[in-house]
Amino acid sequence: MTTIALIGCQWGDEGKGKITDYLADKFDIIARYQGGSNAGHTVIFGGKKFKFHHLPSGIVHEDKLAVIGNGVVVDYEILKEEIDDLKRSGYFCNNLRISDRAHLVMPYHKLLDELEEKSRKRKIGTTKRGIGPCYTSKVERSGVRACDLFNCFAVNVDGILASINRRIKSFDGTKIERKEFLEYCDTARKILEPYVCDTSRLLNDAIDNEKKVLLEGAQGTLLDLDHGTYPFVTSSNTTAGNAATGAGIGPNKIDKVVGVSKAYTTRVGEGPMVTEIKDEVGKHLLEKGMEYGTTTGRPRRCGYLDLVILRYAQRINGLNAIALTKIDVLEGLRKVKVCVAYEKDGKEIRELPPHMEGYKPVYEDLEGWERSYEDGLTGEVMEYIDFIEKETKVPISMVSYGGSREKTEMLKELV
Ligand code: IMP
Repeated sequence: MTTIALIGCQWGDEGKGKITDYLADKFDIIARYQGGSNAGHTVIFGGKKFKFHHLPSGIVHEDKLAVIGNGVVVDYEILKEEIDDLKRSGYFCNNLRISDRAHLVMPYHKLLDELEEKSRKRKIGTTKRGIGPCYTSKVERSGVRACDLFNCFAVNVDGILASINRRIKSFDGTKIERKEFLEYCDTARKILEPYVCDTSRLLNDAIDNEKKVLLEGAQGTLLDLDHGTYPFVTSSNTTAGNAATGAGIGPNKIDKVVGVSKAYTTRVGEGPMVTEIKDEVGKHLLEKGMEYGTTTGRPRRCGYLDLVILRYAQRINGLNAIALTKIDVLEGLRKVKVCVAYEKDGKEIRELPPHMEGYKPVYEDLEGWERSYEDGLTGEVMEYIDFIEKETKVPISMVSYGGSREKTEMLKELV
């Protein structure tokens, strides 16, 4: 019996898509449990590069089920684009299942994302995919769930419209009319119908029947609504606890939590980042790492590896193992710095503070390397890996040293 939750340890973009794809062979089901089309997963499969925002990375493995759990917010328009794209490449998405309890991102959520962000003095730098406003509707209990599309009598349309129009009015936006709302729901229903089911039941039955389930996180620990760098976070819980809630399984059904971390640090959007560097090394990481957002195309902010963050990710998620990605991007640096603590006003701390502003990194210098992989991971690369293991007290089970699936070294068995 193996259910694994795969969690981003940093600010997202850690390479979870590649790790999911690499591990997919060992699983029967790959399920997403939070976030929406704000995610960006790049998967290289069958010699082709796929970029997904909404579909689980496992979708290209047609013999596995790809599940969108109840904790995800579903944008049928983007989902349809991705499905249509895949169909053109010969994948028919018959393996897709969407939770009947998942909330829908409506056009007015995307409008509100724009308006809210524009009105903020201190920007969050959202992806403008309507994620925050959709989760707001969910929490406010005026959201639309997939199952609601099939039972309009149970839906309080007037209540939903009153609530959303109050929010839109505060920005002087145009009122949403009942007719346009119902028409949108009608189209969404037609598109989503083949895929919607009770995915909690599906996943629980599968686990009870000894099927293997991979729970694929989106974004990362520091974008978590409770544990991240609030308010510069996304609007869902990205951490391991929510893998159970967002998939509709008991926490005791998760056997292992695997954290994915880049060998350095990146961040998109606003907010503090202690190890951010803007010098030649920063440029090296940006260019060699091709650090441009999959969803927005924005260049990512780059910096050295931050072990204060990784230790925090270990604590919040209860990591059993780490998959370290993009180690090859560090090739060619004479020295590689690693942040082991933060410093402010002469005081050093090793735990992540609730506000990162004003802290400076305390670095240790490690020797750099020219080639990450030559008949294995040896020399300075291995010293780097050992250093991270020692500091985080978490075994590094996988190391990825290039974009393609083959460029992955399994150091310890996961499944
Ligand atoms: P939202 O999720 O669109 O509301 O954006 C909130 C914050 O999370 C912004 O700083 C985004 O850049 C960031 N964010 C959202 N999704 C991702 C992702 O998949 N990778 C990296 N950052 C993300």
